Amino acid sequence: MAVDLGGTNFRVCSVTLLGNSNFKIAQEKTQIPRDLMVGTSKKLFSFMAQQIKNFVETHHSDHFTESSEHRLQLGFTFSFPVDQKAVNKGYLIRWTKGFDIKDAVGQDVCELLQNEIDALEIPVRVAALVNDTVGTLMARSYESPGKHGALIGAIFGTGTNGAYVENLDKLTKMTAPGNTFGEYDKSTGEMVVNTEWGNFDKGMNVLPDTEFDRQLDRDSVNPGIQMFEKRVSGMFLGEILRLTVLKLKNEAGMFSTSNVKENAPLFEQWGVDTSVLSDIEGDKSEDLSQVRQVAEEKLGVSEITLDEARALKILVHAIGKRSARLSAVPIAAIILATGKLSPAETTTKPTHQRRQSLIEKATTAFQSLILGNPPAADTAPAGPATDDEPIDVGVDGSVVEFYPGFEEYLREALREVNEVGNLGEKRVRIGIAKDGSGVGAALIALVATKAALMAGMKKGDL
Ligand code: GLC
Repeated sequence: MAVDLGGTNFRVCSVTLLGNSNFKIAQEKTQIPRDLMVGTSKKLFSFMAQQIKNFVETHHSDHFTESSEHRLQLGFTFSFPVDQKAVNKGYLIRWTKGFDIKDAVGQDVCELLQNEIDALEIPVRVAALVNDTVGTLMARSYESPGKHGALIGAIFGTGTNGAYVENLDKLTKMTAPGNTFGEYDKSTGEMVVNTEWGNFDKGMNVLPDTEFDRQLDRDSVNPGIQMFEKRVSGMFLGEILRLTVLKLKNEAGMFSTSNVKENAPLFEQWGVDTSVLSDIEGDKSEDLSQVRQVAEEKLGVSEITLDEARALKILVHAIGKRSARLSAVPIAAIILATGKLSPAETTTKPTHQRRQSLIEKATTAFQSLILGNPPAADTAPAGPATDDEPIDVGVDGSVVEFYPGFEEYLREALREVNEVGNLGEKRVRIGIAKDGSGVGAALIALVATKAALMAGMKKGDL
């Protein structure tokens, strides 16, 4: 089983693997009430346990009658930064994406969930804690097996982040005296790194910045952090548009001949959803009838002129394209820093220098995009590829899935990052891992349970 907390919806699912990259999934989604996002941890986690109970009763009622030896093993996709100490233990570092529940910070989120599950006497054990990007990486590797699994799992949805596979010899884990936290299974020679790239460049050295970005940040629950995410992901694009349009209305006479509702979403913080941008971008009609309709229904402004509809389209395009181009940066950085396009790139630098190198790669990628280095020619010779296998990037999230042209703009930017463009952007295969975080988390719960049994845990303890 898997549950997924991290965006607009809370999702519960159970997955049956059918082999050969196929699976069957049963799932239920519930929108997370806004007051639970800023209330207490008790309220949020008991809400989640209740949804799990409903799901198990509907889809797995047999488990209620069986003994505790048959508890369902659950992968918990919790898409916020955690300090993960074990496969099912992780302490919340900070909230992102509009959540702000102070008493949960510093707590083990698996324990919080398990306590509420136990209180409702549901036969479920939290077996693994998974970031959505890691789940996406796993799901993509299961769904599209090549010689290698996927390199990157990335989310461009309510938030944005990526995880990738790194060689163990590039990583060092710290061990605190007196505990075993720094010990881990080294048998595969690899480790998945959750980069939390949403917080990239919080010092604002290279990110593009406008007065609307600054205002959005000032009025957010977490000013000064997640600055990359605030320019890229779905939670924020609608708000950037709203602030921009509001300024044009207040200071440049936009909508002066239109009918603006008093309680229009245009006046409400977070009132404009990112789907508005997707709908406006997608209008290819001459008279922009869809733009006008969206303005009426989603912004609360009717009878806009054709010029105003055009202006909306230009704004949306600028915001959406900036997001897609920025999204290419961490992908390029990881591809370059892992040396996947060029074996010569692979170094044996110690971890802290490697981490530096990932950030340096991202910074260079930014600069080449922003300063507008000439795009690498399409015909550039392919670099010294490690083999012919594509470099697989599994993605998920409403922005990459629904924003028209998002992947094309991202790819265009990837080509413009000189090193990637020259070395073979064509080898980069980007594919949607639909609902990947749920499937991936269930896969990880399965593996974690098998590993626990192999390590000598008894079935009854699971
Ligand atoms: C935020 C979270 C991160 C998550 C991402 C996508 O950036 O901090 O953990 O992966 O959103 O949901």
